[in-house]
Amino acid sequence: MARPDSLQRFIDATRGAFFAARPHDDACAAGERIFAALRAPGPIETRRPASTLPVCQFLSAAIANARAAGGTAGEVAASLEALLPLLAWHRRAGSDSHGAAFHDGHANAWAIAPNGIERRSDVIVGVTLTAPRIRYPDHSHPPEEIYVVLSDGEWRRDGLDWHAPGMGGAVHNPPGVRHAMRSGPSPLLAVWCLLAQH
Ligand SMILES: [Fe+2]
Repeated sequence: MARPDSLQRFIDATRGAFFAARPHDDACAAGERIFAALRAPGPIETRRPASTLPVCQFLSAAIANARAAGGTAGEVAASLEALLPLLAWHRRAGSDSHGAAFHDGHANAWAIAPNGIERRSDVIVGVTLTAPRIRYPDHSHPPEEIYVVLSDGEWRRDGLDWHAPGMGGAVHNPPGVRHAMRSGPSPLLAVWCLLAQH
C-alpha cells in the first residue's frame, strides 16, 4: 500500500519546519539523514486505532494554538490534525514508575514506528504531548533525535541547560546524550524523529 497522503504531508511539513528553524550544523546533518531515509516508504497499516488517553484532552487546544501561530509550525499542526484519525496514543513504557502526574500527563503517538502507521524501525517519527507542568524524565538512547516544537516548553540535555526552542523551534539530541523536556503553564506538543544507528 502506498504511503497515505496525510502521512506524506505530515513528513513534508515536519521537514520544512525543521530546516526553517535553521538548526546548527550537527542538527542539520541529522535532519538530512532522517529525511533522506524517509524518502522510501515502508509498509503501511491504516486500520483505525481506538486508543486515546486522559492527556489527549489537551490535544485540540495545543494543535489550535500551533495552527494559529501560522508559518511552518502551523503547517505541521494542520498536517497533524489531518493525521489524527490514524494515530493511536500510548503511555511511555514504565510511565507508572514516574508518578501519577506523569503517568496521566504524557502520551506519545507513533506515526512511523514498528507499531505505527508506517511500520519500520530504521526511522521512528512520533508526536509527544504533555499536560501543563509535567517533566519528562531524563533518558538517553543510542539513536540520535530531532524535534520540531509546536508549543511553549523547555528542553535540556547534558552540556546544554534548560532552554525554550519556541514555536517552530528545532532540537537535536546526539546519540546517547541524556536529555529531558518539561512543560510550563501550557501543554507541550512536539514532533520527534529518531534515526537508528547503522
Ligand atoms: Fe529522547
